Amino acid sequence: MSFDLDAVRAQFPALAIKDDGVRRIYLDNPAGTQVPRMVADAMSACLLSANANLGGHFRTSQAATEIVNSARDAMADLLNAPSSDEIVFGQNMTTITMHISRSIGQLLRPGDEIILSRMDHDANVWPWVLLATQLELEVKWLPFNTDTFEFDLDVLDDLITERTRLLCVGGASNMTGTLNDVETICAKAKAAGVLTYIDGVQSVPHVATDVQAIGCDFLACSPYKFFGPHQGVLWGRRELLEQLEPYKVRPATSAIPECFETGTQSHEGFAGVKAAVDYFAWIGQSMAGASSGRPALRAAMDMLFAYEKLLATQLIEGLLDIDGVTVQGITSPDAMERRVPTVAFTHDKVAPGYIAESLAKENIFVWNGHYYAVEVAKALNIHEAGGAVRIGPVHYNSAEEIDELLAALRRILAA
Ligand SMILES: Cc1ncc(COP(=O)(O)O)c(C=O)c1O
Repeated sequence: MSFDLDAVRAQFPALAIKDDGVRRIYLDNPAGTQVPRMVADAMSACLLSANANLGGHFRTSQAATEIVNSARDAMADLLNAPSSDEIVFGQNMTTITMHISRSIGQLLRPGDEIILSRMDHDANVWPWVLLATQLELEVKWLPFNTDTFEFDLDVLDDLITERTRLLCVGGASNMTGTLNDVETICAKAKAAGVLTYIDGVQSVPHVATDVQAIGCDFLACSPYKFFGPHQGVLWGRRELLEQLEPYKVRPATSAIPECFETGTQSHEGFAGVKAAVDYFAWIGQSMAGASSGRPALRAAMDMLFAYEKLLATQLIEGLLDIDGVTVQGITSPDAMERRVPTVAFTHDKVAPGYIAESLAKENIFVWNGHYYAVEVAKALNIHEAGGAVRIGPVHYNSAEEIDELLAALRRILAA
């Protein structure tokens, strides 16, 4: 049993599309992945045969309720949540965070301190800065070391005081690709009675996630970054979800988790999320020999990460070989455990926008800019110069695609 790239690629119709006879190379995955056919089929089946609101006595309503419940169960398995009652769905991670941050704010008082990170996407920064302004909280910043692209965790020890109430940090950076040691970070926070809100948007697609092992209080992620539809998901510790006052309308239930889901949800989105988790389970069972449920998901994630590390090593080695390129992230082949395969780079003469546009002409899809990692781009001193080119392989990319990308880059940068 081993990773079978051909079998994986056959699941994704988008990978076979050609434009004027030219193949597509999808390396824009940190911004959103392609979906396997089973995800599109599940969404379509939901729309075509279970299209109703929840809680009715009739068949379509019961089918929709079943879809919603099974999606919660699937996400609880993926994140190893103790219960699916702790899984909140929403439009995307940013909207969920904006929304729940208002409720978390009810636990805070003027003069309380919150710690935000300079390595985070703005979705785990600005909702909290807005809250701090409204509630007169003090914001303290956790910097990262711009040589190692990692946090120096002794700095965190100095930042935590008896007034610290909340720490918000990412599982992985959407720019540098650094995988943070969230277990240690949360242990430090917990020892000081500080709540933790983890942005798992860029870590959940790449590594097995276990909210109980991490020891966090909240973890948010975005299924459209792990082969599902445009949805956001939040896990919150039950005692906290029960304690928080939800922002909801009067007739809506006060029960968790639904009380945090405003209005009617995208049930087809739930169906797609469940299918995306089933896709991982299929990999775990068919390629890693795991039984089912959480063990299959864990086996799949471990297998996919091992493969992605190979792609990351190949990509980084190739980039470092090109004159004028600086990789804005961890590059040591021995340290691939400490990063996801998202690789950002700058060139000393050519602007990121020009590089991304030139690659697009060859039907190779990559991003340029700061991708809302505003603090990261500022810390790396690349914000004003247009950020960086970001190449984000996932497990459906091949070594041949990375070779093609590198060959294209060498041509573009030599011209
Ligand atoms: C690390 C990180 N956090 C949060 C977000 C925002 O996610 P969403 O689009 O689900 O709001 C992104 C999106 O790229 C991200 O990369």
